[in-house]
Amino acid sequence: MTRNGADEGPPEMITLAYADSTPDLVLLLIHGFPLSSRMWEPQLAELGEHARIIVPDLRGFGDSEPVDGEYTMAELADDCMALLEALGVDGPIVVGGMSMGGYVALELLRQHPDRFAGLLLASTKAGADSAEARAGRDATAARVAQDGIDVVVAGMLGKLMANAVYDEDPELVDEVEEMMRQSSQEGVIGALAAMRDRADSTELLEQIKVPTLVVHGTEDRVIPHAEAEAMAELLPEAGLVLLEGTGHMTPLEQPEAFNAALKDFLVHVAATLEEE
Ligand code: MLT
Repeated sequence: MTRNGADEGPPEMITLAYADSTPDLVLLLIHGFPLSSRMWEPQLAELGEHARIIVPDLRGFGDSEPVDGEYTMAELADDCMALLEALGVDGPIVVGGMSMGGYVALELLRQHPDRFAGLLLASTKAGADSAEARAGRDATAARVAQDGIDVVVAGMLGKLMANAVYDEDPELVDEVEEMMRQSSQEGVIGALAAMRDRADSTELLEQIKVPTLVVHGTEDRVIPHAEAEAMAELLPEAGLVLLEGTGHMTPLEQPEAFNAALKDFLVHVAATLEEE
């Protein structure tokens, strides 16, 4: 290039220092059944400074495309990995899941243990479905196929949160109902099959080598908190946070306490990564 008539050659390369407000740590948060990524709004609003937070809608839920047929946990996990890949995320990730999202997180761990920097298990459990629970999934799927997702709204809305929430916070109840109603019939039927056939992850827990946080409500009527206590006992490096008077929807029912625990956890994971 010539400027002022002089041939200056290529521009000199120098090293610039810079700051980038996008945190290095990536946090993938996977929603429960039959919900959507909207359930993580309190975490997106407060914790973006500590991690780049990615919240997918699983197939058939929220704004994601409904896919016909029975799903598997492996497919739901693959969808999440494909999303991360499309977003250019190829380093270590903290994966968190609430209830069914926890089942997907454990499947991701089974398949990609080397990608994990940390694991958050919220309102979930490690065991597989009993024969009775499996039959219940089939019965629900058959009813949803016939009568639509009203079946799951009627069956679940009243037990997702602690009793007090239904009297004291009707707006939250409406919000959760709206989220449930956004789920497609295909998504609900497909995910019921994925939950029915999921593997038992109890032994997987004992092999986890990264920091893990278990959060559960003491008034969870979908998955009793004893499940969280049992998981924490098996996990070599786990923190257990039991939220008093809280139901199944821990991230939405107690956003401040949930976020405080998750923030401390992210700081701990980031420090662990730096040490490595
Ligand atoms: C959920 O809340 O994601 C599901 O109800 C969990 C389950 O049915 O096992």
